[in-house]
Amino acid sequence: MEIFQTVTTRRCIRKFRPDPVPGELVRELLEAARWSPSWGNTQPWEIVVVAGEPLKRFREANRKRFMEGAAAAPDTPMPEVWPELFKRRYTEVGKRVLTALLIPREDVEARVRYGGDMAALFDAPCLLLFCVDKGLAREYAMLDIGAIQQTVCLLAHARGLGSCILAASVRYPALIREAIKIQEGKAVIIGVALGYPDSEAPINHFARERATPDEFITWVS
Ligand SMILES: Cc1cc2nc3c(=O)[nH]c(=O)nc-3n(C[C@H](O)[C@H](O)[C@H](O)COP(=O)(O)O)c2cc1C
Repeated sequence: MEIFQTVTTRRCIRKFRPDPVPGELVRELLEAARWSPSWGNTQPWEIVVVAGEPLKRFREANRKRFMEGAAAAPDTPMPEVWPELFKRRYTEVGKRVLTALLIPREDVEARVRYGGDMAALFDAPCLLLFCVDKGLAREYAMLDIGAIQQTVCLLAHARGLGSCILAASVRYPALIREAIKIQEGKAVIIGVALGYPDSEAPINHFARERATPDEFITWVS
């Protein structure tokens, strides 16, 4: 796939087929993704690939914790307030997801159920957990994680795999540490769900929005 096409057609996938992702394919993605840039070539990423039974257990435990209404306590604090413009965009994508699922806004029960499905990683057969050593300056390590995470998502797309970056996967790091072996002293930054997209599902097809270039570019010359 041509690089511009790969970038512009990648989208977050929220319904996966149950087929497992071959381990060799994940290895191929990560072998290429290790060429991502990082500050001073520190390559601070540590990636835990979770699949099979441990993933099934984690998906269900994470769903349950969410459905119980447990407060999120991620290793990286999540934003609680957004300036108006960003809040509008955040709300808009939520609306599009619910519309694609035919869930009316006022149907609180269905919305909570959807939140549970998200916590269960939309049943993705593979999860990549991106971790960094807690001794690193977190802000800069986050830039490096962002770089490799996007590279992985693009490579996955180029190989016909779908991905969804999921803050919802790292809300309860204590649960992750319980279900999955994460070394002491590592912060869990973000999870990326991986799997083959369900190409029929409307949730994988709603129109996405982006600001126009003129809304975010300032030319100085
Ligand atoms: C750091 C980060 C966290 C995200 N967390 C979630 C999440 O918890 N649930 C979800 O459905 N999508 C999540 N997303 C996906 C965004 O909603 C998505 O990237 C955005 O709406 C743009 O859509 P697109 O990626 O399909 O182009 C996350 C994306 C990023 C970069």
